This record gives sequence, C-alpha cells and structure tokens, in this order.
Amino acid sequence: MCGIMGYVGPQQAGPILIDGLRRLEYRGYDSAGIAVTNGVINVRKARGKIANLEDILSSDPVTGSIGIGHTRWATHGAPTDANAHPHTDPTGEFVVVHNGIIENYQSLREELASQGAKWSSETDSEVLAHLVAREYDGDLVAAVRRTVALSEGAYAMVVMTKREPGKIVAVRKISPLVVGLGDRETFLASDIPAVLHHTRDFIIIEDDELVIVTEDGAQVETIAGEPVDRDPIHITWDAERAEKGGYDHFMLKEIHEQPAVVTETLAGRLDEDGTVWLEDVAFDDDYARAIGRVWITACGTAYHAGLIGQEIFRRVLRLPANVEYAHELRYADPIVSEDELTIAISQSGETADTLAAARLASERGSRLMAITNVVGSTLSRYADDIFYTRAGPEISVASTKAYMAMLIAQYLLALRLGAARGTVEPKVAQDLARGLHRMPGMLEEVLRREESAIAAAEAVKDANDVYFIGRGLDFAIALEGSLKLKEISYVHSEAMPAGELKHGTLALITEGVPVVVIMTQRSVYDKTISAVQEVKARGGRIIAVAYDTDTEIEHHADIVLRIPDMDDLLAPVAAVVPLQLLAYHVARLRGHDIDQPRNLAKSVTVE
Ligand code: G6P
Repeated sequence: MCGIMGYVGPQQAGPILIDGLRRLEYRGYDSAGIAVTNGVINVRKARGKIANLEDILSSDPVTGSIGIGHTRWATHGAPTDANAHPHTDPTGEFVVVHNGIIENYQSLREELASQGAKWSSETDSEVLAHLVAREYDGDLVAAVRRTVALSEGAYAMVVMTKREPGKIVAVRKISPLVVGLGDRETFLASDIPAVLHHTRDFIIIEDDELVIVTEDGAQVETIAGEPVDRDPIHITWDAERAEKGGYDHFMLKEIHEQPAVVTETLAGRLDEDGTVWLEDVAFDDDYARAIGRVWITACGTAYHAGLIGQEIFRRVLRLPANVEYAHELRYADPIVSEDELTIAISQSGETADTLAAARLASERGSRLMAITNVVGSTLSRYADDIFYTRAGPEISVASTKAYMAMLIAQYLLALRLGAARGTVEPKVAQDLARGLHRMPGMLEEVLRREESAIAAAEAVKDANDVYFIGRGLDFAIALEGSLKLKEISYVHSEAMPAGELKHGTLALITEGVPVVVIMTQRSVYDKTISAVQEVKARGGRIIAVAYDTDTEIEHHADIVLRIPDMDDLLAPVAAVVPLQLLAYHVARLRGHDIDQPRNLAKSVTVE
C-alpha cells in the first residue's frame, strides 16, 4: 500500500520527507518521490528503492521547507519513474500524491483528454492533479472539494500549489491519514510511526474529512465544509509497536485490516445488480461461454482459497472446476485443452511451483489467469488475464488478508463468468453483490468478538493435537484454520471433511481433545451435528463456528465463535476470521514468534 508524507515548518522538507518514507517502507512499495516548494515546485522521483531517489537528490537537490512525499505500490500502471508520485498538472503549479484508487479515472481521463490534457503517466492519480488545476479559481480548498466530488473511490490525497505557499491540503476517503503536531511545524503521514520520532501528538483524520495543514497546525473540516473540532491524541506506544499500527504483531494488524481489504478489492468492480468490471481481464463473452472446465492451481493458503473457488464455480456456475496443488500439477502430465481456463493463485506471484504449473498449463494451450497481490510479479507477466487483489503488502508469513482478497476475487470472477454464460439468475447475482458489499461491516462485527477467540485459545493452548472438521465450503475453511494453527502455534493439527472423521481419525478422539467444527452450511447442518455427537460421545471438546441465529449449537458445543447470519455461499469469508484469531492467540499464549514462524518463508521461490 502506498505511503504518504507531508511537512510544513522551518526545516528543510527533503530530509524529513525521505526519513518518513523510510519509516513507511514496511508497507511495501516499488517507487518513491517527493515534491518540495520554494516558490517553484520541484519534483524528484524514481522507480525502486528510496536509495534510488536519494541518488537523484544528491546530484539534483531540492530546497524548501514545505513538501509532500510518497512511496507507491503499483495498482494502475507498472512501477516506473513516470508512474511514481508526485504528479503535477501540465503547468507544474499543482502537485498531488495519492493513496488508493480512483474508480472512475477512465471516464475522467477521457473527459480531461477531450479538454486537451496530455498524460505523463498511466496512473489514476495524475487525473487528480489535472482536476485540481482545472477546478482552481483562487481557492485551493474549494478546488480540492470539487475534485473530490468528481472522483469516486476509496483514497487519500494530498495537494500543494505554488499559488498558495505555506499550506498543504489533504483529504481522507477511507485510506488512512494522520497529522502530527510539532512546535511550529506540522507533519502529515499515512500512519503514526512515520513521524513518531518528531512528535507524539496526533490528529487522526476520519473518512470524508479534509485537513488544511500549515506550520501552525491543522484545521479539519468535513468534505462538505462543516468545521470539525477534534482533540489531538497523545501516543504512548514505542516505535516498534507503532509500526504495527498499535498491534503487537503484523499478523494481528493484517487480520484487522480485512474489512478494508474487502472494500479495496471490490472498489469499482461490482455494481449493486451484480455486474462485474475487471480491468485486467481480457477475455470476452464468447471465450467465457466456451470454457469447458476451470483448473485452479496454487500452494499453501492460496490453494485453500482455490478450494473455495472450486466450490463457487461448481455451485454458482455449474461449471466443472478442479483445484490442484501446483507442485503436483506440474509433474502430473496434466491434460489441459484450449477450452479450459487455468487460474493460478499466488499472493506473491513468485512461488516457484505455482509459476511452473501455470506455465505448463499455458504451454499446453490453456488460457492463463493470475490472481495475485503483486503488480508486475512474474506470474502476472505470464498471464493472459490478471486479477490484482489489492490486499496491500502482507508482512506476516502466515497469510490472512491476502487469502481474504483471493476469496473475494473468485466471487467476482464467478459473477463475471456467470453473466457471460447466462448461468446465474439475476436475483442470485444481486444477492451475492449485496452480500459482498455488506461484507466489510460483517467482518468488523466478527472482529469485535475477538474475546471469544481468546477464550477458545485458552482452551486449546496446551493441546497436543487439534482437529478441524466441516462439510463443503466449511471443510475448505477447516483446512485453512488448521494450517494457520500449525504455522504459528506449532500445535499438531489436521482438518478433514466431517463425514470422514468416523473412518479413522475418531480413534484419536479422547477426553478433552479439541475439535473445531465449522457449521455455516445449512443444507448439511444435521449431518455435521452427527459428527459433533460422535466427538462428544468420546469426551472431545467442541469449539464451533456458527451463525448468530444458530441456537441448536449451544446444546453441543463447549465454546461457540459467532458470526453474523449471511448467505451460506459467502460464509467462508466471515468464518475464517475467528479461526485466524484462534491461531493467533494460541501462538501468542504459547509465546511464539508469530510474524516469523520457524522454518517458514513468506515466499517460496525455489522448488
Ligand atoms: C509459503 C507461505 C504461505 C503461502 C504459500 C504460497 O508457503 O508461507 O503463506 O500461502 O507460500 O504463497 P503465494 O505467494 O504463492 O500465495
């Protein structure tokens, strides 16, 4: 995710901006830039690491005590010098950095182009600089307001103009923004750690607010222009904790980012009626209609996401779909043909096995689609079609928010294919769309119930073995819950379909053995209860994930992790969250290195 910095005060802005950008590096980025003003606006930017930007600055320095800076994590357009921020209008008098996505940027680009605009980049962000300049009539704040009214999406933007020196104007629409208050100097940043060594007093900008930053402080207003009276908060965390947004570990931070990740992944892609817009998916309706089978290939958590996709394609589209481990598929001499779509899923887009399987399928004539979180990754370069998940950089080795975004990607893809193939009833598409749009709120609700996951973790922390069971989509979630627990708590764990328990593993269920059961699939509810009873009869301890309205489960379970009621088809998205929290808290109680578990790597780029 992009990082934003701003500075107004008596010192040279350049070094302060660079230092802040370095402290935002953990968010991940692929280019960086700053703009500093001293009568004229000077922009320096470079692809790659901040060191590249520093090289440029050492031979071509900037002076001035007001400036804005940015680390970019590519979404629209490759990571190049030209696409790096800041972006200016053609006169160079207005300069913008931006984090997030302008959903209607294509139509804005066309409109501005018809008025004569020439583009220096492929980004959605450049549109903002042109718009602010066009809308300016002597009042920067008014121009920014009008620009925001024209720009749809979830974003934060920061604007500066040489016409109104001494001032930076910033807006938050979902993407985070904070103001740090110093002694006759003021800082702006995407998050607190970037400037925590300068000040501990912050104003947190909320959604749909605008802030005018000067060396005397910050004036906050709503986008509509109402004044906002917000007291600064005083931060007492240490720098390390601050980098994790106040959480103890990146994993917990990333778990809590999931509602925002769903919002970002859906942004601009799903209409209320279920119509889907996928910018990097090139296939047309004729191709979509001709698909005879979908192969999904991936490793680890991405494979578990693929299991959900397989079930969605089968159930929603009645389309044959198979998910295969990439390390198996690559040596299985697979039979794939031209009417088969291969979907390779990989957070990093660099997993060696996934790349090999994807390449093989492609060589054998299959069309290749990538679902990946990293723009410009090797997988995205191989693929004919790409779905970028927009989860932002994931630091914790155990994947959570990237998995979540992979699920959302596959629901959208199913809706896209369904529309072309005419196999999804409009009502079903509409219900799914509504459910997806409501999902961030549902996830917030699940996250508010973290206490129950902590209670479950207390019950599990000393176990030697934990079993996870479920049917259909619940089985896929059971696998992911079990993997999370293994990865970070080092507790042995297995997942199996609930119906399989009695065919062997039941022999291991004795007094007190924890069994986690996922109970969201109403059509097989009673069947799963039978498995629960088999466990209870042997003294096993049941931890259930169930809907709020499920009153039956209380008669069987020792602990219930509740999720709000929703369509069974979408339930995996919410049901995985208590399991992520369970794994996290077991690992915490056992005192493990949660973000860097032993023996594991974030990205396995060797075979
Ligand atoms: C490693 C990571 C897992 C990840 C898997 C696939 O094993 O530890 O968290 O799920 O690789 O990674 P990818 O980047 O292809 O999704």
